[in-house]
Amino acid sequence: MDIAAPVVAESIRAYYERRADEYDDWWLGTGSFAARNRPSWPDEVVELITLIGSLRSRRTLDVACGTAFLTQHLGGEIVGVDQSPAMIAVARERLPTAEFICAEAVPLPFEDESFELVFASHFYGHLLTEERSRFLAEALRVGKQLVVVDAAQRADVSSEEWQRRELGDGSVHRVYKRYFTAPGLARELGGGSVLHAGRWFVAASIEAGPRSDSGHAVR
Ligand SMILES: C[S@@+](CC[C@H](N)C(=O)[O-])C[C@H]1O[C@@H](n2cnc3c(N)ncnc32)[C@H](O)[C@@H]1O
Repeated sequence: MDIAAPVVAESIRAYYERRADEYDDWWLGTGSFAARNRPSWPDEVVELITLIGSLRSRRTLDVACGTAFLTQHLGGEIVGVDQSPAMIAVARERLPTAEFICAEAVPLPFEDESFELVFASHFYGHLLTEERSRFLAEALRVGKQLVVVDAAQRADVSSEEWQRRELGDGSVHRVYKRYFTAPGLARELGGGSVLHAGRWFVAASIEAGPRSDSGHAVR
């Protein structure tokens, strides 16, 4: 296994590149999401934003930042990374004070311990089994703390599925997606703590362990 090989299938990356201009409809309940029945979604988005705003960090990395919908609420000096040029273009327009880099989540183009906080929202759940530990190791190499936000387990979805997704232009895509219980996510991060356990979202946090002689976090 090449531990530095990029994560996330090419087809899923292409899907997000194509979705960039309509992506925020999912957060805002507009466009194709206006007709979705999502009770308490807007209130929980506000709760999530409040949680994100409470995270203390002088230098913060948002991995797979997308359109920077959540990035804008992070603290400190902010760097956002995403593989999609179209997502990065929207993010730069939204948050001109931050630095946005079109780059990979694995490997991340930063030195060890470059950030106090590494944040990743709705990215971890797209990673296949063998990709997860590589992402976690990389996030905890460049950051002292990792906060992961993802989709909450619900009765109407499987914990893991390949979903059919249709975009406004009629194109159809297949996306690998997981749903989490909050304790389950915290456990997967390596014994982290739960920050949010909602109907739609979960969030968990883990601190980097002590570093080995080679400088890598030991878990
Ligand atoms: C579901 S979106 C989440 C966007 C944002 N974090 C949010 O919560 O609104 C997933 C994002 O992951 C990005 N992505 C997928 N694979 C990536 C990779 N290997 N490296 C960096 N970004 C990646 C996509 O381009 C997309 O913007």
